Amino acid sequence: MNISDPVVKKDHSSKMNGQAIYVADYSAEGMLFGKLLHSQKARARILDIRLPDLPEGYFVVDRNDIPGDNNVNIVLDDTPVFARDTVEYAGDAILMAVGPDENETERLMNEIEVVYEDLPAVLNIRDFDTVFFDYSYGKGDVEKAFAEADKVYEEQFETGYQEQAYLETQGMIAEPYPDKIAVHGSMQCPYYVKGAVARVMACRPDQVRIMQDATGGGFGGKEAYPSILACQAAVAARKAGKPVKVIFSRREDMEFTSKRHPSLCTYKAAVKNGRVTAMDIDVLFNAGAYTTLSPVVLQRGIICADGVYNIENLKVRGRAVKTNLVPSGAFRGFGGPQTFFAVETVMDHIAGDLGVDSVRFKLDHVVKRGDMTSTSGRYHFPVPIPQLVETVLEASDFMMKRRKYLEPQTGRFRYGVGMSMIFHGAGFTGSGERDHIKAVAKLHKLKSGDVEILVSNTDIGQGIKTALSKIVANELELPIDRVAAADPDTDRVPDSGPTVASRSVMIVGELLRRAAIRLRETWAEGEEQLVEEHFTEPDFLIPFYLDKFQGDAYPTYSWGVNAIEIEVDTLTGTPRVLGAWGCYDVGTPIDRNIVAGQMEGGLLQGIGYASMEQMTSDEKGRIRNNSYSDYMIPTSMDVPELKVILHAEKYPEGPYGAKGAGELPLVGVPGAYVEAVEQALNMKLHKIPVTSEDIVKAFGEASI
Ligand code: MOS
Repeated sequence: MNISDPVVKKDHSSKMNGQAIYVADYSAEGMLFGKLLHSQKARARILDIRLPDLPEGYFVVDRNDIPGDNNVNIVLDDTPVFARDTVEYAGDAILMAVGPDENETERLMNEIEVVYEDLPAVLNIRDFDTVFFDYSYGKGDVEKAFAEADKVYEEQFETGYQEQAYLETQGMIAEPYPDKIAVHGSMQCPYYVKGAVARVMACRPDQVRIMQDATGGGFGGKEAYPSILACQAAVAARKAGKPVKVIFSRREDMEFTSKRHPSLCTYKAAVKNGRVTAMDIDVLFNAGAYTTLSPVVLQRGIICADGVYNIENLKVRGRAVKTNLVPSGAFRGFGGPQTFFAVETVMDHIAGDLGVDSVRFKLDHVVKRGDMTSTSGRYHFPVPIPQLVETVLEASDFMMKRRKYLEPQTGRFRYGVGMSMIFHGAGFTGSGERDHIKAVAKLHKLKSGDVEILVSNTDIGQGIKTALSKIVANELELPIDRVAAADPDTDRVPDSGPTVASRSVMIVGELLRRAAIRLRETWAEGEEQLVEEHFTEPDFLIPFYLDKFQGDAYPTYSWGVNAIEIEVDTLTGTPRVLGAWGCYDVGTPIDRNIVAGQMEGGLLQGIGYASMEQMTSDEKGRIRNNSYSDYMIPTSMDVPELKVILHAEKYPEGPYGAKGAGELPLVGVPGAYVEAVEQALNMKLHKIPVTSEDIVKAFGEASI
């Protein structure tokens, strides 16, 4: 078997025939329902909470019921399980109403009256007064390069929220046992949830059991939030002495759970002899009310702030600032889409000003194998961007279209093409894998000769069960149906780390491949066997120091090139994507179909991010777009011709040469999309999403 040859996904039939059990599907005798009372105020002191008369069996749970510490373990631990004396955003969980009837519980929750004393709130990223994280790094001599420049450019770019819009909303069930608390539900990271629950419930790790249920999508949105919800449910279940189930409505999920950080990036670039010699970049991320994952999202965002280009003199400052808005968090790309949009667009603008084609201009700046990275590490492996560009140019007939659309356009419909070049650093930033995660993976061989994969990685629709099973089956020369991969249960699986950062196949897949080789070599017919593998860091790495942002931020990179062709109706502002191309190097695809599906999905999710997914907050700090009629995501009607082409530069430390795949396809879309709209409208743009309103407004102003 060739490892890339497609197989039927492990979860295919259970999902297609409706047998998969999601957390919302569970019911049990005596199970109670929990409804969270969310703050109505962006920032206020809680003066009083007035409860209605609660019928027998109904009660509320708040911070006074927490056995341990009222802090959810994420990176820093400032997110409360239940609100402290003040609320910090419209959505903060003040308490949970719990009872046997779901509707009655909700009705009672809505009758609770909270008396607030309003406090000043920061509702705009530009008005920040608290900086959660402030990082700076650089290389070369930026001042000298700017002093010697022929020309200096300065531009500011803005990006908005993006909602993960997974099919299944957040949900958890907590079950209390005499000496244990069990929580199961929708999640990406069972061991993150376990650590958080242990702290809040003040119990030992062996007294907490976390199980993933079938999960309807994550996209980063189930990296940290499930830890918060699991803690709330666990506290309620312990108080009740009964299982407590909490399932978010779509409105709750959209208003109160994390989304992509809005950003404001200022780029200064120095150009000499037609080359960008320096960049001075200021990155501002809107973190919202609590720090959650902002430090790590910001780190990734600023590390790729200079894109795929060799900018010898570089100064980058990144800040994640507090606002009294919903905490921002992980979303496919993890900080990269914001800065890649900015750097791609600034490069396009400079090329335009210099009268050079942007593709040529950008190619002239692309890093090569052996070059220094932004953080003074190395690109240790081939950089196939020129080949990917070649492939996309040809597949999209790009240059012919670009020339054609460069001719003066006067009709109602205008056309443009755009191209972006990007990477995604595979796996955790810096030494996270070695210092924090220390992944362990196990293989359990049964007497029957069937083999069970024991890892904490979760299938959230991306196909990890299938990919990992293929790797194991391939090494053991077993049919894939003799390799089992159940939804993780922390009582059974070791901590092989979270399902994030495009790491699962590259890191955990390689551990399993090594475990499978050892099992094959020690295979004892008819006996039960257990093989365990531990993460070891590749020895070629230049150590990364987070305090200085120096060294190899990632062991390797996945690369991508996108092209977008667009038609804009200047009367209605309606854009139509005529074609979207992506050529991606994710190393060896461990299943061509799964990878192609990921690439197509990510490409479309990127088109949504660039074009229509608009989410804003009102003057009270509440998210306005809290339903799918107010928050547009691409539907089947919006799917253009998507052309995905794979290119494989094998990574020697990944299984069969595989690198990270999941996040890559979203990252580059805004850059290509905006360049296409700019060509169609013959104007410069500085923000995403570029909505129809923006187009009508911009076009109207330009033609006055
Ligand atoms: Mo992911 S955005 O690293 O959960």
